[in-house]
Amino acid sequence: MTKSVGNRGLFIVFEGVEGSGKSTQSHLLTRQLDREGINCLHLREPGDTETGEKIREWLQTSSDLDGYSELFLLSASRRALVKNKIIPALANDHVVVLDRYTYSTLAYQGFGRGIDIQHIDYVNMLATDDLNPDIAFLLDINPEDSFQRKQKGTLDRWELENIDFHKKVRDGYLKISENDQNLWTVINANQTSESISEKVWDIVRRHLR
Ligand code: TMP
Repeated sequence: MTKSVGNRGLFIVFEGVEGSGKSTQSHLLTRQLDREGINCLHLREPGDTETGEKIREWLQTSSDLDGYSELFLLSASRRALVKNKIIPALANDHVVVLDRYTYSTLAYQGFGRGIDIQHIDYVNMLATDDLNPDIAFLLDINPEDSFQRKQKGTLDRWELENIDFHKKVRDGYLKISENDQNLWTVINANQTSESISEKVWDIVRRHLR
């Protein structure tokens, strides 16, 4: 039997620099929720809608985008995801587990590219109708360490940035998380996947009660 989690579902986001393990941990959490018989949906940004997947492709392959163009494309992808997938799933009492959300834009386009944070806050609010998560996990790791464990393959536009860019992104995430300690759980990502997933599940389980 499927357990209900309340009358509005639960919205959980994972954030962190490349190679921090967000994707692994968000999938592990989704599998755990499945095992518990809880309705859940795993999504990632940018992408996971028809529009979002096209935008993901543009973001990965275009060479003439600046920080503002990234902001607008990412926001269009985000709006499609919020409207078409996240809001309906939450209304249907699901747990939504999302790999990257508005905080990625603050960290990468704001702290990384240097776009005014107030501009980003405003665009994020418009793109999401001010929908905020219930739980946010920051998998925190020094980019020098995380890049070593990242699998080699085709590098996207952000992975091609130098280490200083990624350090600014990481510092940005830490500042963002300090501003709302009720929302954020910061986890040292330089430990085993099992021990991270135990910490994640401990927090999520408390919210489900
Ligand atoms: P991924 O590697 O986690 O799939 O994310 C794709 C890239 O998109 C990643 O390098 C970070 C970047 N990104 C931003 O710069 N801003 C955003 O708001 C989002 C959602 C992703």
